[in-house]
Amino acid sequence: PTIRQLFQTDLVSFKSKRVQINGWVKSIRRQKRIAFAVISDGSSPQSLQAVFTDVTLAKSTCYRSLTNGSCVRLSGVLSDSVGPEQDREVQVDAVEYLGECDPAEYPIAKQSLTVEYLRDHAHLRARTVPVASMIRFRDQTQRTLRRFFEDEDFTYVHTPIITANDCEGAGDTFSVTSSPTPATHSQSQAPDKEKKSHFFGRPAYLTVSSQLHLEAVASSLARVYTLSPCFRAERSQTGRHLSEFWMLEAEWAFATQLRDLCDVVERSIKSVLNQQSSELPALHQDIPDVRKASLEAASRWDKSWASISYTDAVAELQKYQDAYRKFRFDPTWGGPLQSEHERWLAEQLVGGPVFVTDYPTSLKPFYMRANENGNTVACFDLLVPHLGEIVGGSLREERLPLLEEAVKLHGLDPEEYGWYLDLRKYGGAPHGGFGLGFDRLVQWISGIENIRECIPMPRYAGRMLL
Ligand code: 4AD
Ligand code: MG
Repeated sequence: PTIRQLFQTDLVSFKSKRVQINGWVKSIRRQKRIAFAVISDGSSPQSLQAVFTDVTLAKSTCYRSLTNGSCVRLSGVLSDSVGPEQDREVQVDAVEYLGECDPAEYPIAKQSLTVEYLRDHAHLRARTVPVASMIRFRDQTQRTLRRFFEDEDFTYVHTPIITANDCEGAGDTFSVTSSPTPATHSQSQAPDKEKKSHFFGRPAYLTVSSQLHLEAVASSLARVYTLSPCFRAERSQTGRHLSEFWMLEAEWAFATQLRDLCDVVERSIKSVLNQQSSELPALHQDIPDVRKASLEAASRWDKSWASISYTDAVAELQKYQDAYRKFRFDPTWGGPLQSEHERWLAEQLVGGPVFVTDYPTSLKPFYMRANENGNTVACFDLLVPHLGEIVGGSLREERLPLLEEAVKLHGLDPEEYGWYLDLRKYGGAPHGGFGLGFDRLVQWISGIENIRECIPMPRYAGRMLL
């Protein structure tokens, strides 16, 4: 069994059963005739105590190998444990050393290593307790979200990674280069220059968002979603930006109210906040109680999250700035909300997650649906305490003339977006959707300080180790 299964089974039925455990030695304590090792097999945060007698160890060929970090296969009998930390342990009678590990050389043998040190050892950091917990928490979270969207009749769609459009129009795309043929492959022709820097002759990028492609599928399957990697060459060296991150995006036809979009966002995130996670106790160990209480409050099904228009939010920010001059940037109507503004709105004004709606047209991408007033669009950002924006979404402009206008206004090439305009030409439906930053959701709920510790192998400005 895995260690997780072993702890799920009640002790009585398991006691005295022979078990075989494959895993890694996390720590070892030797006494005169006996040694205790803590064994982890990655299946859960729980580890198993293994008890070795000197007879068992003497039988094995390389006694030395029972060291921190080594990989072992143990056979033995399960029994009650008298230790205060666990109710069961395994009395080992045979041990097989699968992989030795010299503790003198092992880079992560020490107990407390800084996050920076572990980033430098990205290939080994999954072996630490917090990173392993985060990885399992990501998995639990994506399962919960998948279940939520399945239950809501959304179809999971595989959207492309290589694209011809910059969906957000922010100009921070990574370009794709068809691999130049190495000179040593003499029989194949050297590609021409044009082809080298493009996708077979055509400019191509790594996707920044799957939205436009989801819209195409939503105009037939009606309710669709994806969880996909996204790539942005942002220079921001912040604790909430990655160059490669994961986004859950949903898009559905016949949505006409912003409130309905926000409702799906809220319920999907609440399903994650309410999931039973074996990892959260460990992840939450070091976060202040107020933060735990704030997550607890946000998870309540009977209490809806707040919503405020961008215009009202700016007015509130200005009032506060006039009175206290606490912000580095003056809030002004028409300007972007800075991260300090976003956090103040969620933490101070509302004290919880808040949807900020109807931003000025000039701040948002071309595809958002124009409001009647002509200077704002039907969109929202979800802001949460301690982090800021974790979701962005909108109704999409389904009226062809208005969309054509917006394409021009944003300086986009109408030919590039011909296929996107077609979606409106041929049986276009009112629709909308959103993108939820998966890594940021994990960051918010887990309380992990930096987004770089919310993904196993982070890529961020200037950094890609393996
Ligand atoms: O607000 P964004 O840019 O919205 C879109 O891309 C829309 N096309 C989504 C849609 O409507 N389908 O990104 C959505 C979310 C952000 O709120 C944020 O949580 C996350 O994606 N995000 C990032 N997460 C980590 N690192 C980055 N560099 C991120 N950029 C955006
Ligand atoms: Mg956004």
